Amino acid sequence: MNLIPIILIVIAVGFLLYWLLVMTEGVYLGQRVVVWLYDLTANKYDGIKQFDIVHERATISIPLSQTLAGQQKPLVLDVATGTGRVPILLMQEAGFAGRVVGLDAAGKMLAIASSKLEAIPAENGKSSALIQQTAVLLPFPGNTFDAVTCLEAMEFLPSAEAALNEMVRVLQPGGTLMTTRRKGYEARMFFDRYHSAESFESLLQDIGFTEVRTDVWQINYDLVTARKRSVS
Ligand SMILES: C[S@@+](CC[C@H](N)C(=O)[O-])C[C@H]1O[C@@H](n2cnc3c(N)ncnc32)[C@H](O)[C@@H]1O
Repeated sequence: MNLIPIILIVIAVGFLLYWLLVMTEGVYLGQRVVVWLYDLTANKYDGIKQFDIVHERATISIPLSQTLAGQQKPLVLDVATGTGRVPILLMQEAGFAGRVVGLDAAGKMLAIASSKLEAIPAENGKSSALIQQTAVLLPFPGNTFDAVTCLEAMEFLPSAEAALNEMVRVLQPGGTLMTTRRKGYEARMFFDRYHSAESFESLLQDIGFTEVRTDVWQINYDLVTARKRSVS
């Protein structure tokens, strides 16, 4: 019996499953699979990421707090908050005195975020909340938030374009967007979902952002900031 075709089929199926479930984290199988995979691996997430707090503060919470410093009680939304990266950073940031809302579809990721947030004393009038809900559609009226963040998640949402349209809708005119663009060879495994730096910047400009800026941030991600265009 010739085993070569069988071996080739097994290798091809193995590669397809690896691409579908590991490389692109279920995004081509639908939102439910993405969320299910995050729930499945929630307990390992922080251990895998090993965030460097000095780098995190320098690139996320300090610049955000400085941008929001002029606001009385700034309101921040973190879309696809996961285990609470942005809410936790802002709750620990002395220069932040507002409210931060973290939204994610994966209940187990949010449970970890919640237990970490409970351990942080709510000083300086700041507060946080978590909402279990899928993006793209955001359950908030237009012009609500002073800043919207969405880190390391855009490529997993059903549509980056639709998600960004919702983010610009809920931002106040002049409000800040902080998001990420996946890059490197892994990003190209997302095929039609891949955005070059130029195409991502022009997408943001087309849907109502200005002052778009891309900074090198991590090996696999650029940090992209922008401002919602004010109505003239
Ligand atoms: C790589 S994690 C990023 C988490 C966090 N922003 C961070 O930087 O650590 C991606 C997150 O996106 C969430 N997610 C994926 N698809 C989603 C959707 N359609 N709606 C809401 N959250 C989603 C997952 O549950 C997961 O927590």
